[in-house]
Amino acid sequence: MSMLFKSIQFKDLTIKNRIMMAPMCVYSAKDGVVSDFHMAHLGSRAVGGVGLIMVEATGVSPEGRISPYDAGIWDKKHVEAFKPIVRFCKSFGSAMGIQLAHAGRKASTDAPWLGEKPLNSQNGAWQTLAPSAIQFNEGFPVPKEMDYNDIKKVINDFTNAAKNANDAGFDIIEIHAAHGYLINEFLSPESNKRTDLYGGPIENRARLLLEIITSIKSVWSENKPIFVRISAIDWVEGGVQLEDSVYLAKMLKKVGISLIDCSSGGISPHAKMKIYHGYQIKFADEIRKKADIPVSTVGLITKPEFADYLVASDLVDMVALGRELLRNPYWPLYAAHKLGVDIEWPDQYKRAKL
Ligand SMILES: Cc1cc2nc3c(=O)[nH]c(=O)nc-3n(C[C@H](O)[C@H](O)[C@H](O)COP(=O)(O)O)c2cc1C
Repeated sequence: MSMLFKSIQFKDLTIKNRIMMAPMCVYSAKDGVVSDFHMAHLGSRAVGGVGLIMVEATGVSPEGRISPYDAGIWDKKHVEAFKPIVRFCKSFGSAMGIQLAHAGRKASTDAPWLGEKPLNSQNGAWQTLAPSAIQFNEGFPVPKEMDYNDIKKVINDFTNAAKNANDAGFDIIEIHAAHGYLINEFLSPESNKRTDLYGGPIENRARLLLEIITSIKSVWSENKPIFVRISAIDWVEGGVQLEDSVYLAKMLKKVGISLIDCSSGGISPHAKMKIYHGYQIKFADEIRKKADIPVSTVGLITKPEFADYLVASDLVDMVALGRELLRNPYWPLYAAHKLGVDIEWPDQYKRAKL
């Protein structure tokens, strides 16, 4: 019996299967406002049967965007633009999540197909922020070391974004604490050299994340889940190691986080990542066992049988697919057929049911 198509409950939310669309920036928003492309892009995955659609890293402030083309959620105009997309996707039975993000020292870059380079004063660069004034890589600007006012503003921005996400109809918010962006920069000793309450031991490096969560909880219903995406390891000596992430996951469980979305890397361009099918499963499994918290894994998962095995063998609770869902928006319909599970197809496509 397939486990991939067994529903899962987080607080008051039931998700119809264990398939999550991984958050993926599509660099197609204008001034943070999502576009027709987002409707087609996210809507087709809902039609395709994805259980949980996690909307791309969405800026909590203009300066928190990776590029000028990122989605944003700091203003009411963003809420209005998201509403019809959320409504459409939900009408096909998908749960809707949004990844709230601040890009920190990796902000202010161009879209991937425009070179992904840091912007300059001629093409709209803005001041980047980080726990310490250390550039991400050669050619990147030196970020401003955040003072307490900057920290307070970021916490307020995440809180305002969570409130807006709620108004737009989202079921879940996922805090982006991975891939070398702002919160990961605080968590990692590689980028956080502070000597105040926000630097040093893991309890201090996690302070910003925990303060953001506490503040978000004042505007986000207790009955609605919050996920956190982390980089379980930085893949660099002196960076975050798996035991730090297990410890962090235990802290996150205590403050009521429903799931840890386990990714890795991104803090350093010199990281030596070993990438193969399911290369991040071991991180998720270790965190799940040692911190006793639901987890998802992501990374080169393409085959229905493999995804099903990961859930059935109790390694993970959800499986996130990124690029495979870009290649094949109807992957869940096809996966159900491969696994011999009879799921409801959209009325409009019933004549094509496998
Ligand atoms: C086009 C693209 C955009 C991405 N944008 C994000 C993002 O906004 N937030 C995030 O946490 N990860 C992002 N990622 C990483 C994916 O969520 C995922 O972790 C990664 O692609 C590995 O999974 P896959 O092998 O199934 O693609 C992105 C990946 C791709 C390919």
